[in-house]
Amino acid sequence: MCKGVNINWNNLGFGYIKTDFRYISYWKDGKWDEGNLITDNMITISEASTALHYGQQCFEGLKAYRTKNGGIQLFRPYENAKRMNRSANRLLMPEIPKEKFVDAVRQVVRANEGYVPPYGTGGTLYIRPLLIGVGDNIGVGPASEYLFCVFCLPVGPYFKGGMVPVNFIVAEYDRAAPCGTGAAKVGGNYAASLYPYHLAKKGGFADCVYLDPQTHTKIEEVGSANFFGITKKNEFVTPKSPSILPSITKYSLLYLAQEYLNLRATQRDVLIDNLDEFKEAGACGTAAVITPIGGIHYKGKLHIFHSDTAVGPVTTELYNTLCGIQFGDIQAPDGWIIEI
Ligand code: PLP
Ligand code: COI
Repeated sequence: MCKGVNINWNNLGFGYIKTDFRYISYWKDGKWDEGNLITDNMITISEASTALHYGQQCFEGLKAYRTKNGGIQLFRPYENAKRMNRSANRLLMPEIPKEKFVDAVRQVVRANEGYVPPYGTGGTLYIRPLLIGVGDNIGVGPASEYLFCVFCLPVGPYFKGGMVPVNFIVAEYDRAAPCGTGAAKVGGNYAASLYPYHLAKKGGFADCVYLDPQTHTKIEEVGSANFFGITKKNEFVTPKSPSILPSITKYSLLYLAQEYLNLRATQRDVLIDNLDEFKEAGACGTAAVITPIGGIHYKGKLHIFHSDTAVGPVTTELYNTLCGIQFGDIQAPDGWIIEI
């Protein structure tokens, strides 16, 4: 079905590439329609859509992986479906039945099969589900109609170089409020992060690290990924906070660290003044995969973890285990892999 695609698979970054098909479904009068694949990548919506005025929208990010034998598989898509519904609930949007979500993802991947990068290139097919409030509205309130869309594109590393250390800077801004929407994957959190991200990039950093909005003493997460550290006692530690995105990669690593690497794995406070407790650190997420953190810049000083050029051994082992599972080379825990 796919047109022959002419892509340099070994040179993919994280930029928009228009693929052939996307899925779209409308919610009106209390129910979802059947949904279907379309070729047009333009969406026409009312000028009075709540998504445009009041940020009533949420999204997801997951990937399809090409295996060694040429198959295609998804990594924990039902977790994305569940998180999308938690985000939808937070913004008073209708839930998407989990099977409808996963079916839409499957349809889009199948229809764009030619865009799934070959095994061994490191590339993947990034899938972006999107739920937005549409229809004619003007007062602050939930929309009368909704649109659920799923599109995809081939991607390489989110942070330049992939599995190479990058430096982050602690933001002076917050991305989320203590009882706000930090735990939901909603566009407003990312809108709030654009200016600090711009400042970070201008300063030569790959992204920001946010501190907890209440006390500014604890690491929350990176603008585009969660944070983890490996302590000098070989413990996998990741921040526990109600205002960070519950990262599916982070929960997967907590499990893999314990069950596959025999490390203690803990969610707890991570004090920005106590970075010395870590011998390695990283950012984790669907787009970021595992990106080693060379150093974090805070109050005029760059704190280096393992090295700003080499990747630590535990981070390397976690990366190999996670990617081995995602690409089908290592036996996954039950239910983590869904074949297309
Ligand atoms: N934190 C933020 C702010 C993100 O944008 C992402 C990406 O989705 C993550 C964490 C990682 O979440 P996941 O592992 O579910 O992709
Ligand atoms: C993802 O990892 O899926 C994300 O949504 C992060 C985004 C900043 C690209």
